[in-house]
Amino acid sequence: MIPPKTIRHILETTRIEEVVQDFLPLRRSGANFTARCPFHHEKTPSFSVSPARNIFKCFGCGKGGNAAKFLMEHEGYSFPEALRWLAKKYNIEIQEVQPTLEQLATQQEEESLFIVNDYALKFFQENLPGAGMGYLKSRGFTEAPIQKFGLGYAPDNWDALKKAATQAGFKLQYLQKLGLTTPSGKDFFRHRVIFPITNLGGKVIAFAGRTINNETIQQSNHPKYLNSPESPLYQKGQTLYGIHMAKQAIRRQDECILVEGYTDLIAIHQAGIENIVASAGTAITSEQLLLIRRFSTNLKILYDGDPAGIQATLRGLDLALELDMNVKIVPLPHPDDPDSFLRKVGINAFTEFITNHAVDFINFKANTLLSGAGNDPVKKAAAVHNIVDSIAHVPDPLKRSFFVKDCAALVGLGEEVLAQETAKTVRALAERQRLVIPRGSNHSSMLSPQKETYERYLIRLLLEHGAETLGPKEDTTIAEFILGSIEDILEHFEDPLCLCICRESIELVKSKQPVAPHHFTSHEDLAISGLVVEVLFKKIEPGPYWEEIGHFPSTHSNGQDQIVLITKAIAHLKLNMVNRFCEQNLQRLRNIPGGDETQTTRLLTAQERLNEIRRGLAETLGMVIK
Ligand code: UTP
Ligand code: MN
Repeated sequence: MIPPKTIRHILETTRIEEVVQDFLPLRRSGANFTARCPFHHEKTPSFSVSPARNIFKCFGCGKGGNAAKFLMEHEGYSFPEALRWLAKKYNIEIQEVQPTLEQLATQQEEESLFIVNDYALKFFQENLPGAGMGYLKSRGFTEAPIQKFGLGYAPDNWDALKKAATQAGFKLQYLQKLGLTTPSGKDFFRHRVIFPITNLGGKVIAFAGRTINNETIQQSNHPKYLNSPESPLYQKGQTLYGIHMAKQAIRRQDECILVEGYTDLIAIHQAGIENIVASAGTAITSEQLLLIRRFSTNLKILYDGDPAGIQATLRGLDLALELDMNVKIVPLPHPDDPDSFLRKVGINAFTEFITNHAVDFINFKANTLLSGAGNDPVKKAAAVHNIVDSIAHVPDPLKRSFFVKDCAALVGLGEEVLAQETAKTVRALAERQRLVIPRGSNHSSMLSPQKETYERYLIRLLLEHGAETLGPKEDTTIAEFILGSIEDILEHFEDPLCLCICRESIELVKSKQPVAPHHFTSHEDLAISGLVVEVLFKKIEPGPYWEEIGHFPSTHSNGQDQIVLITKAIAHLKLNMVNRFCEQNLQRLRNIPGGDETQTTRLLTAQERLNEIRRGLAETLGMVIK
């Protein structure tokens, strides 16, 4: 375990812009840097890096935090892994300490799930010799990739994993949550070779299992492949098989090859092509493409030339174009898939083929759509519309006009006409984008304003203005004033993180240190740095607080205005607390067993007292309360 002191040291030494720049091109914009957000799909940059605050924040999808958080989001690291990465970059030595028993006991559920997956992985691997290994060998897989991809085998048995895992002390509840056992308590994977699916950081998040009995594939209740169901660790549409193993090679070669199947990927990897990932049973999603785009914008899709393969490829195409990726498509000779084709022709011919037969999306669409249209003008027009539609998804106007030129030549139409059509579609798409909710998963912060409580509001005042004094002639800082006024109600705070920040701020004041954001953005507790980033970067719009409290007075005003505003905010906070107590008290009154007079009288007195306080607070705030 990394000691908290070292965590703070690492985070304080780290320069956020230097870390982000290792992964994204940043552009200076005033005191900050901006970029197109790597975590959601957008056309104009709303991802901002603040060197002064030492944090990043995306105003589009809401993601934000310090450098460790960035690495966790971007590279799929755990918090300790991110810290080790930073320590290495900044030459900081880490002296690990043993975690205490208590720390071990309170391990998060997520960690426990990872541990269970690791156990299952070992179990499957230990069972590989025999039927499983026989199957893999029969398909031509050698020892190296079997090891590297951690392949295993689930025995032909109803509950071998369940028995072993529960005997080893793992909770059945976790096995079930991961889908390793079915609701009826059987093993989910039986008599299948197992492909562990990892996240970007290489941790096992799920499994896929292929039956080793080809005769049963035709039976509808016995699919060729089974995938773990989604779990807290595994979201299918956001995962790409092999990305952990491939990311370095993708970056190095500035190209990513995309195939469909697990076995395709492993066969090609075994032959020495390592910049390869597999979509593994899902139609490609924006999230998966964004994941690839972190490492390269050049994408080569290898697909089986059957109609289903073509359809899936066409769908992925527009998504990739929208993300401004350069997409090439390699149709393989029907009925081969990458694995069988490679085995047929060998690696040299394979490499040559995928280099020479890669076509851009216009050629691909023109070939597949126009060939089916024959001489029918209606069908031909539909095909051209379809191509134009794809071109319109390309965000860069210059690239668009080159594509228009290519397309005109290919379909034998005038460039003018096509350019006009494209412009029309671009406008229509833009219009649609204005009207619909943007695609992607992390837009909740855009759609509903984040809940800001008075607790958070006070934290914001505390951190933004804490180090200033109350007016020019005063010695008292705003932090001292705020903290002094809420010290006696701290224990009633609802949000434990806000409470923690206040308590630590009190310690800072006591030791004569300024209460300022940087202390918390480099906090050893990721939840605290996260909350602070959120609170500080909440879009400051005239909202309820402005109507109820007003703007925070400028530093040059005399301290009175600031005192009035803070007092008002605290009165609101207290009013909320008292309202909560009233509710609780009423609840208790309702639940008193019949006849308990003393208890009833006690609670009624309390209720009266609470109402009195409520009225007092309301009066301070100029409100009327019934
Ligand atoms: P394919 O049927 O093309 O299989 O499915 P494959 O990859 O060539 O597999 P082998 O060579 O027969 O072993 C392509 C991908 O679709 C998903 C899997 O991810 C598979 O790799 N799939 C297929 C499923 O999820 N379930 C299935 O039942 C079949
Ligand atoms: Mn295959």
